[in-house]
Amino acid sequence: MERVLAQLNLKGKAHMMTAGSHCEVALHILDGHQCVVKIIRGHSSMDTLGATRLVDDIVSYQRLLSDIGVPIPRERNCFPLEDQGTQSTNVVLVESYEGEDAGDCLARMNDEQARFLVRRMLCAISPFLRARRRSGGPLLGIDPKPNNFAVNDAVTYVDTVPPRYRRDNETLVDLPIPTDPNAWKLAYWRAYTPEGVLVVLQTQLCRVRPDLLTTFVKEISAAASACGVGAYFECLPSRVFPTMSALERKAFVRSLEPTDMYLMRDIACFLAHRDSRKFDQPWLDAVFKQSHFKGSVSRDGFEHLKGELANAL
Ligand SMILES: Nc1ncnc2c1ncn2[C@@H]1O[C@H](COP(=O)(O)OP(=O)(O)O)[C@@H](O)[C@H]1O
Ligand SMILES: [Mg+2]
Repeated sequence: MERVLAQLNLKGKAHMMTAGSHCEVALHILDGHQCVVKIIRGHSSMDTLGATRLVDDIVSYQRLLSDIGVPIPRERNCFPLEDQGTQSTNVVLVESYEGEDAGDCLARMNDEQARFLVRRMLCAISPFLRARRRSGGPLLGIDPKPNNFAVNDAVTYVDTVPPRYRRDNETLVDLPIPTDPNAWKLAYWRAYTPEGVLVVLQTQLCRVRPDLLTTFVKEISAAASACGVGAYFECLPSRVFPTMSALERKAFVRSLEPTDMYLMRDIACFLAHRDSRKFDQPWLDAVFKQSHFKGSVSRDGFEHLKGELANAL
């Protein structure tokens, strides 16, 4: 990052922000105007052609999001930049600063403020939900984790890397593209379908504030019903476990497969909501990390996690 900032003449003029999973991020103040510099590190195999293609994909994806009405950073400039140190090519995205990380805001909100913020996030992604219901609309995906939204007077969706859209005959689901067919299907489902997108939102909200689970479940279920996918949410553990016996809950957990990562996460949130001292933030974060299905699954790790959840119920 330092080397790239130096190449951009920004060394010492920008401060580092928390990195995301694909980008390193710095905040820079330019003529009193705040902007964010993101560096998408070149994969070892990314040459100039690969970087130029990624830039094209990011620009196309941003245009699609903006065209359907999802609020994204107002100003954006994306370009390839050769790394003079490693000879590989990075992709740089410079965009307007759109406010505080919604995950950080959520962490300190009361129930009413959190409910209002969730409604604003749902409003930001509602063009996506509507577009997915219309046949013939553009095929694109999103990742609505709270920290992919920035909050000031408006709520803005800021995470446009990796680009998720249908390019020619290829649907881009993640970066790098999953090679395992089950991992590809799951990456598609969680970003491109209303059920997937809303369950990502619900579980990631609960990850930040398990104490507010009831509020989140209510808001997400209402949004899901409004877009015709309410049935999926009526069967989630967070909804059905409270009225199930311990035996039934354990049987539910035993039936889980590695690709059921969102059900496992939902169960972990249910436990953290019920007993936050025993199932605290580090425990919840660990379950989210362990349950991430990327294709190659350690059977032992998965069975261990299932055992841990079943014992806790
Ligand atoms: N335009 C922006 N305005 C304000 N904050 C931003 C902006 N873009 C990114 N951020 C902050 O930087 C973090 C990482 O950026 P993001 O684009 O989500 O990268 P990644 O794809 O690696 O997750 C975000 O969680 C957010 O807090
Ligand atoms: Mg992000």
